[in-house]
Amino acid sequence: MSNLLRPWLPSDAPIVLAAAAEPEMDRQFTTPVDSLAAAQDWIAMLEERRDQDTAYAFAVLDDGVPVGNMAVSQVERRHLSGWISYWMREEARGKGLATRACRAISEFAFTELGLFRLELAHRLDNPASCRVAVGAGFRREGVERAKLLYDGVRYDTETHARLVTDQV
Ligand SMILES: CC(C)(COP(=O)(O)OP(=O)(O)OC[C@H]1O[C@@H](n2cnc3c(N)ncnc32)[C@H](O)[C@@H]1OP(=O)(O)O)[C@@H](O)C(=O)NCCC(=O)NCCS
Repeated sequence: MSNLLRPWLPSDAPIVLAAAAEPEMDRQFTTPVDSLAAAQDWIAMLEERRDQDTAYAFAVLDDGVPVGNMAVSQVERRHLSGWISYWMREEARGKGLATRACRAISEFAFTELGLFRLELAHRLDNPASCRVAVGAGFRREGVERAKLLYDGVRYDTETHARLVTDQV
């Protein structure tokens, strides 16, 4: 797709496995990725979802090497909306890659998928994710109180959205 984003490939499984083992990264995966086979299954699942037109996930590339994930999921053809999510490997953070990749997937979702509204949310105690959203043109839409529950603790989240008509 570009030198920044490309679909995940089966050969990326070891990288996905290593990423999932980094601190707090297990929460970024809907199923546990704790073996090479699980990483391969995750990549295969992404391919199925792409074929079903429900989600499009891309490896974020740094000099051609996958260092993160940028996805539009919950693709809703009735309302022309989608949900953006992302993670970066620790070594690749702080270089502006997530923000650039979030802008790139937004352009993909608007122009290639024909979507109108993209949403995302982050925990209030995740300022880096908030900066990515704002930097990619996602306006703040509000706080949802005690939305998530992790290890017995509830977390507020903030929702952002970007419309195809927004001037960014
Ligand atoms: C959130 C995440 C994807 C950001 O990736 P990244 O590649 O470091 O993002 P960028 O380099 O594009 O930086 C984005 C901004 O965050 C800021 N930032 C980074 N760490 C920060 C921190 N701890 N506190 C405040 N701001 C921070 C950067 O300064 C930058 O700000 P700027 O745009 O004003 O210059 C990455 O930290 C990550 O993968 N975290 C774990 C998974 C996660 O939280 N995913 C999002 C779930 S909602």
